[in-house]
Amino acid sequence: MKKILVINGPNLNLLGTREPEIYGSETLKDIENRMRNYAGKFNVEVDFFQSNHEGEIVDSIQAARDKYGFIIINAAAYTHTSVAIRDALSAVEIPSIEVHISNIYKREHFRHKSYLSPVVTGEVMGLGIESYMAALFAALIKMGVEIE
Ligand code: DQA
Repeated sequence: MKKILVINGPNLNLLGTREPEIYGSETLKDIENRMRNYAGKFNVEVDFFQSNHEGEIVDSIQAARDKYGFIIINAAAYTHTSVAIRDALSAVEIPSIEVHISNIYKREHFRHKSYLSPVVTGEVMGLGIESYMAALFAALIKMGVEIE
């Protein structure tokens, strides 16, 4: 199943204007366009979902079962609080990569704990929006796409 779901959590809809010194000046739409264009070269479809609501993110993960071969998720602040999102990722058993724009270990102590890390396949952080591109590259390879 060569389809990837990219999930973004709370406040990531504000990328571009939100604390640009931490998160950069590119918008979520810019990230989506770059990911879609790159995956498109390999005929892989990428769908995007953003929500500020924990339950909606849980719903989107549950609905991904049997539809997507891979999930890339930046759960934003819910990374540090959400047992529900972690349990949803565990339940669906879809390979997944946790993404962060910033390096959460260089920031406040409360960001050092991720509830998702133990249940995802892997993690990319601290590379700005290239974190998403690196995750996409890895997801494509893991899905068996031949990157030339
Ligand atoms: C973030 C890091 C989180 O700590 C923060 O709450 C975010 C964004 C990142 O991409 O660097 O909203 O996930």
